[in-house]
Amino acid sequence: MKTTVKSFFAPLESAGVNELWFQRKKFIHFSGCDYFRLSHDSRLAAAAKKALAKTGLNVAASRMTTGDRAIYHQLEAALQKFFRCESAVVLSDGYRAPLALAQAFAGNFTHAFIDELAHGASFDAAQMLGCPVQKFPHRDAAALKKLFSGRGKTFRPVILTDGLFSADGAVAPLQAYLKILPRTGMVFVDDAHGIGLLGAHGRGTVEQENVPRDRVIQCGTLSKAFGAFGGVILSSPAVRGQILARSRSYAGATPLPPPLAGAALAAVKILAGDQSRREKINANTNWFRTQLRRHGWEIPGTPGPIVRLPVLKTVEEMRLKKLLLAAGIYPPFLKYGAATHGTFRFVISSAHTRAQLKKLVAVLKKFKE
Ligand SMILES: Cc1ncc(COP(=O)(O)O)c(C=O)c1O
Repeated sequence: MKTTVKSFFAPLESAGVNELWFQRKKFIHFSGCDYFRLSHDSRLAAAAKKALAKTGLNVAASRMTTGDRAIYHQLEAALQKFFRCESAVVLSDGYRAPLALAQAFAGNFTHAFIDELAHGASFDAAQMLGCPVQKFPHRDAAALKKLFSGRGKTFRPVILTDGLFSADGAVAPLQAYLKILPRTGMVFVDDAHGIGLLGAHGRGTVEQENVPRDRVIQCGTLSKAFGAFGGVILSSPAVRGQILARSRSYAGATPLPPPLAGAALAAVKILAGDQSRREKINANTNWFRTQLRRHGWEIPGTPGPIVRLPVLKTVEEMRLKKLLLAAGIYPPFLKYGAATHGTFRFVISSAHTRAQLKKLVAVLKKFKE
């Protein structure tokens, strides 16, 4: 069957570690956020199987009623240790984490400020805070400072931002935000992409940016670097209490299935005891970025493994898609919602081989020639 450029949004037949099957052909892929390919790790599968045998597929009740199980508490204890925070709350999914946090803090702030490129989960969460919401230019602490000025003594702002932005691979300048934040303010970081990945120990943007946790609440997902599933809010026992007491999206939902909690627990243990995956992903990404720059691409020096190409003209997009397909590489082209422009975004994993990366570089070099 002929692979056509039009049919990108057809479902994939399957996806393996670095390869996927699309329209009955095998392609190397540089997409998805299973950064360490842990979703394919046999230790996660074994842990899921064990939890399935012990606890079943689903607890079929909220944790506030009969749905609580030891595995959730074990996972929370492991996450608390991994992230060096005082308390962790596990939720059904990552999208829900910023929502549950906002519900817990509803009515606490006078104003919310959200990065214009924040994920939809934070935009939805902001609506639940019960205060006016204003967008600010992407990662622009100076613009935010201007928005804060002359607000008076009752001003209690909250900043909502992603940690590692999946759109462009950049990281939120948390230190700069804390410098301009009044004492009454807080920062909510949706670190879905940063946790497990950024920082010397994988504690995410909070570690990468070296900021204390007292006015920064970090949430995230276990479905990306951890290769499992579920949401998490990393904070203090007081915030945990507030979530349990006030968050309808926590109280009124079935938690993540026990097999996935078991898999997540195995993943936390793997990443806690192994720096090599982070070293490998950084080495792969640094090599890839250097090669692209050598061949004339303007690539910003962002910290994670998300490498976005500059926006191309439509005719160039089509040419690059064709070149990638011809080389056996799935074209990771992203265009969200009503956005007018899309872009190619390559996500490098710790499991990509140098040969696979070289293949991709060769296409991008050829495109530039
Ligand atoms: C920034 C951000 N927040 C939240 C989510 C949602 O996480 P989950 O897929 O675990 O619901 C995602 C996932 O795509 C994300 O990128």
